[in-house]
Amino acid sequence: MIQYGEIVNASYPKVVVTRHLPGVSAEELAKHVSLAALPPDSPMPRETLLRLVPGAAGILSTLADRIDASLMDAAGPSLKVVSNFAVGVNNVDVAEATRRGIRVCNTPDVLTDATADLGFALLLAAARKFSDAERALRAGEFTGWDPWGFLGVPVHGKTIGIVGLGKIGSAVAARAAGFRMRVLYHNRRRLPTGHEKSLGAEYRKLDELLAESDFIVLCVPLTAETRGLIGRERLARMKKTAVLVNIARGEVVDEGALAEYLAEGGIFAAGLDVYEKEPKIHPSLLAAPSAVLIPHLGSATVETREKMGRLAAENLLAVLAGTEPPCPVN
Ligand code: DGY
Repeated sequence: MIQYGEIVNASYPKVVVTRHLPGVSAEELAKHVSLAALPPDSPMPRETLLRLVPGAAGILSTLADRIDASLMDAAGPSLKVVSNFAVGVNNVDVAEATRRGIRVCNTPDVLTDATADLGFALLLAAARKFSDAERALRAGEFTGWDPWGFLGVPVHGKTIGIVGLGKIGSAVAARAAGFRMRVLYHNRRRLPTGHEKSLGAEYRKLDELLAESDFIVLCVPLTAETRGLIGRERLARMKKTAVLVNIARGEVVDEGALAEYLAEGGIFAAGLDVYEKEPKIHPSLLAAPSAVLIPHLGSATVETREKMGRLAAENLLAVLAGTEPPCPVN
């Protein structure tokens, strides 16, 4: 068994794996690379990462690692690949990596269904007040069936507006079809008619989508354009009975504005998997009974996380072997 911090096969290219990860086998990796670190089950502190990267040819990172120019400087010219254990690469300065000829890879596809399942679970939970009701039950407040207790909003047959109809958004649309929902979507670029038809989705401008939808599900990647996309003004366009679900990135929503708006009863509920300043959560959001809050679980099934790990390792080894990785970002 390879131990934390052990450097094995020093003649191989050096790789830093920043965290103990499902699907990433140290023994397998050690057949091809020199492992500079096999950390325990917690994020690697920045100082440790900076200390370990000099001379590294590869980094197998997670969303908790900021892979920016200063880290690339610390690694030096040996760095060839950053393989991120996630589909999102907002923790990596991809433009800077590209400029330096460093390949960045991610783990798309394998997590599409798990994330869409989770999005739909959040939608249902927020619509039917699961969190609030469960909290009350656990507190011993279930005193018998109550005709007025925890009344939600219906899901079946309602209108869902998907912001970002990519792979995950499309998988959410497929689930919505089972609930006989009308599907609206907004993308930066409208999809070809055939694609829209196959998903049964109608294009809307963002503000139109917000006004027409009963459920709004955010599935966009975090970019300069999508940062702060949903602020006070856009919240105000939503129906009072609307439910907002965020399975994208926290920074897409102005969390303070959302917390305020929920407290005022501006929309019915929100289901959130991601937060602006993870792992910190806006205190007013924590206090909002109409918010269902879960800790970034989109891809959190054993099967999915193992597939992500295997893919991240494959990406890393492919680049180090001088071949095209299965999932390049740049
Ligand atoms: C991703 O892969 O980007 C998810 O947010 C992490 O599970």
